[in-house]
Amino acid sequence: MTPEALEAVRVQLFGKKGELARFQAVLRSLPPEARPAFGQALNAARSALEAAYGERKAALEAAALEARLAAEAIDVTLPGEPLAPGARHPLSLIIEEIEEIFVSMGYRVAEGPDVEWDRYNFEMLNIPKDHPAREMQDSFYLTEEMLLRTHTSPVQVREMLKMGGKTPLKIICPGNVYRRDTDDATHSHMFTQVEGLVVGEGVRMSDLKGTLETFARRLFGEGTKIRLRPSYFPFTEPSAEVDVTCHACGGAGCRVCKGTGWLEVLGAGMVHPKVLEAGGYDPERVSGFAFGLGVERIAMIKFGVDDIRQFYLNDARVLRPFAADLAGPPLATAEAGVPAGGRTAPEETGAGPAASGLE
Ligand code: PHE
Repeated sequence: MTPEALEAVRVQLFGKKGELARFQAVLRSLPPEARPAFGQALNAARSALEAAYGERKAALEAAALEARLAAEAIDVTLPGEPLAPGARHPLSLIIEEIEEIFVSMGYRVAEGPDVEWDRYNFEMLNIPKDHPAREMQDSFYLTEEMLLRTHTSPVQVREMLKMGGKTPLKIICPGNVYRRDTDDATHSHMFTQVEGLVVGEGVRMSDLKGTLETFARRLFGEGTKIRLRPSYFPFTEPSAEVDVTCHACGGAGCRVCKGTGWLEVLGAGMVHPKVLEAGGYDPERVSGFAFGLGVERIAMIKFGVDDIRQFYLNDARVLRPFAADLAGPPLATAEAGVPAGGRTAPEETGAGPAASGLE
């Protein structure tokens, strides 16, 4: 019997127009002397029916519960479903590669805080309060004197001060930086830099150039060349923008390098005497060079990504193929005849950068 059938029986027996109600009406129509006997018989019948109904109802409910327990049973002794393996974030992969290159050249990896004093972020880097260079880095201030660092350069001063005037100082510092920027395919209000700093006796511009040349070859491949273009940073003098030959076309000019054959990857220069002084060094006795590179930019070049926002989606399906890529030969995409940067954005395919045809 189903619960529905039992309910139909209940209505048929106990309902307002049911059997028992009908007998109740009969009872009322009987002559008074006939009523007690009829009433007793009716009550006995009602009790018997109610008991039978209750019993059947309980039995049905118990059966239903049993069936549900059986259906929903979990066998805790079964092995779990395996999770797909995770993947290193592409930016972490690039940072690690950069760290390895510089550590092999005798550098130490340093770190500084994301929340920084105005003093370190600007003032001690020769960017006083009303300097126009502040304007180029529209910033997130927490208080008048405290902000989210706009670059990793404040770590230069922090590390110099820790040295107490001693040389040599050779560090790189990876980390997040923040600028009040409108996010688009090539801009993000938060991005990642790696700062480099060397201070010692007789450190020259040629040392900077040689260092960056070695770095570029190790990161982008043996044939890579660099060029320095004169530029301006308040904390370096002279200053340069550094380009590397486009790895996608080898310098011939293509879509990735917008036909120029070069890709800008970092800013650099000789540490300004005022910055050396702020760091507790005598600029008459020591000199230094510094550089700052954008990790996203390098990752975009190496992985052929054309939208910086891909790195911040935190979607393992998007990120995993980057990791798989780096495990293979570098520039695998270009070698396979697929132009780097020719991948479909994940928003369109929902499948991540797998359009290289290699996966
Ligand atoms: N801090 C500079 C920037 O964020 C880069 C840089 C670092 C330039 C060190 C020169 C030396 O743009």
